[in-house]
Amino acid sequence: SNVPVITIDGPTASGKGTVASRIADRLGFHLLDSGALYRLTALQALRGALPLSDEAGIAKLAQQLPARFRDDVIYLADEDVSHAIRAEEVGNMASKIAALPGVRRALFDLQLGFRQAPGLVADGRDMGTVIFPTAKLKVFLTASAEARAQRRYKQLIDKGFSANMNDLLADLRARDERDTGRAVAPLVAAADAHILDTSAMGVDQAVEQVLTWYTHK
Ligand code: C5P
Repeated sequence: SNVPVITIDGPTASGKGTVASRIADRLGFHLLDSGALYRLTALQALRGALPLSDEAGIAKLAQQLPARFRDDVIYLADEDVSHAIRAEEVGNMASKIAALPGVRRALFDLQLGFRQAPGLVADGRDMGTVIFPTAKLKVFLTASAEARAQRRYKQLIDKGFSANMNDLLADLRARDERDTGRAVAPLVAAADAHILDTSAMGVDQAVEQVLTWYTHK
């Protein structure tokens, strides 16, 4: 496919999601929030009380995921789960099931299908390394653990969840470890990725930097 893709990978709460959606808006591109697919699968696994040991069962949920994205709303079949999938419990489960090769395989084709004209902005952990290795621009967005915990805290409070800074920091470090330490598709910057550290940078500045890189490609 020669439909242009911009990949934005990075650790949890690095601001990828916000930056990706702003870039997609600016360029009129489609958006793939790949983390949402893992969260949707995790939500279904939690609801069905499937244990992590049931890889085949969870992979089947991923394979048959009735996911729909419309505007900023995420649906499981007809249910709006945009709020539910952002809970910490779901994020934690998502990062656990994301280590199962069967689950990653099940979500592979689904993700490729998002590559549609006029272009795609894809955010996640392995967008530039595994799913869209031929992307026109690859960005690796990072920030210090403290900066990310602070953002995550604000995000949760703004969404009406309760949150505790120390717990968040511990959760985030555990999730970083799972994401970078797993055998399949570990979180790592692609060799040809531009690294963007946003610890001391606002969203606007990050968006402008990515657009500048894209324009000069
Ligand atoms: O990005 P987000 O926090 O929504 O992703 C939830 C979890 O899904 C992550 O912690 C990560 O383990 C997993 N994930 C992944 N590969 C992706 C996107 C997300 O493994 N491309």
